[in-house]
Amino acid sequence: FAPKLLAGRKVVLTAGPTFEAIDPVRGITNTSSGKMGYALARACAQAGAEVVLVSGPVSLSVPAQVCCVAVVSALQMRAAVAEALPGADVFIGVAAVADYRVQDVAEHKIKKSGDALSLSLVPNPDILAEVAARADAPFCVGFAAESRDLDTYAEGKRRSKRLPMVVGNLIGDGMGGEDNTVVLYDDAGRHPLARAPKAEVARAIVTHLAALLAQSGR
Ligand code: C5P
Repeated sequence: FAPKLLAGRKVVLTAGPTFEAIDPVRGITNTSSGKMGYALARACAQAGAEVVLVSGPVSLSVPAQVCCVAVVSALQMRAAVAEALPGADVFIGVAAVADYRVQDVAEHKIKKSGDALSLSLVPNPDILAEVAARADAPFCVGFAAESRDLDTYAEGKRRSKRLPMVVGNLIGDGMGGEDNTVVLYDDAGRHPLARAPKAEVARAIVTHLAALLAQSGR
């Protein structure tokens, strides 16, 4: 693994889940350990990049040489990304962002009653799609965790969000565990990687994206 692959580059990543409050003690979240995002942040730093990791709530320690901005909700994540973005060459969206947030967060703890309770949910912004749509967009990499038809959904996401590269994995292959099996998608097609520890998968992803970045003439 070449330590100079991303020398002089700035990389911004999102990782972990977001947590959308319902009231002061409850919320909606996704199951995401943050391990893949943290492994990627570490690999980018080892490759010589300046790294800003915008992280939702996880119980992981921040890798050496990585600047971590801790956030809770999707709206906070979006704001922290916007602040970190100037000068970025690469943006990698690894976070499992909650697709919806509660419309009216209760100021006080909701008391239980025997009645049914409805929550009104409103869609969260798609942070990655917004970054990729900017006129000054960095090289954007997305993740797609799917329960089936990985090729169709991952390549579909790559096209709809206009990303040069997507990392796909099947839920169950990677989530929560130490190893992962991923497929990389880019303009040249699909590139399956061998099952490996997340640190090794992260280095392979960095090698691939650094080559595409160089190819793009940036
Ligand atoms: O559409 P889907 O959520 O499956 O896309 C996954 C990719 O988009 C991931 O890279 C994820 O970090 C990013 N994403 C995002 N903001 C959202 C939803 C997804 O940045 N609100």
